[in-house]
Amino acid sequence: MRTSGLLEFCAYLENTPLALAIQDSFWAVPIMQTLHILAISALLIAMLLINLRVLNFADKSDSISIVISRYMHIIWLALPVLLVSGCILIVGEPARSLANPAFQMKMIMLLVVIIISVGIQRIGSKNHGLSQPTGTIKALSILSLLLWLGIVACGRWIAYT
Ligand code: HEM
Repeated sequence: MRTSGLLEFCAYLENTPLALAIQDSFWAVPIMQTLHILAISALLIAMLLINLRVLNFADKSDSISIVISRYMHIIWLALPVLLVSGCILIVGEPARSLANPAFQMKMIMLLVVIIISVGIQRIGSKNHGLSQPTGTIKALSILSLLLWLGIVACGRWIAYT
């Protein structure tokens, strides 16, 4: 989606004092990219530990509910870091991402996977000691794995579209 309103907003944002300061600074973009990648790593490790346990591919000595409660907060901590670093990268070069279909797809998938993660967390907290996955949590877990992988792919794809 590349509407003229969106392109006008990008042109406005690109010339704000904050955007000009980001463009002039030699450290802002590399530092934000580094933070973004560190937060992605933490989030993906937590996401894999949860989903591999839910799908019975990981060590089963801890129950599914324990693994969810142990690692889900890492996802909730990484997301604000991704949001802030991502927004600073956007302000520095708005049209590169806001008007980019890969970025728009990434944001839609992110909203859906956040809702799914809340669902997984609720199932975990309501079923203490859950050791065998139910059909619902398995389906949510497979969907969440696919969406997180899609989000990473779209994040990288922004540079090529
Ligand atoms: C929370 C809101 C987020 C915003 C606003 C955001 C925004 C951005 C922006 C602006 C870029 C730079 C793209 C470019 O110029 O090439 C980027 C890169 C990227 N993002 Fe995000 N992002 C967010 C969350 C995430 C999440 C949750 C993931 C994956 C778990 C992710 C994965 C990536 C990847 C893999 C890159 C490419 C990094 C690189 O190659 O340097 N982002 N993101």
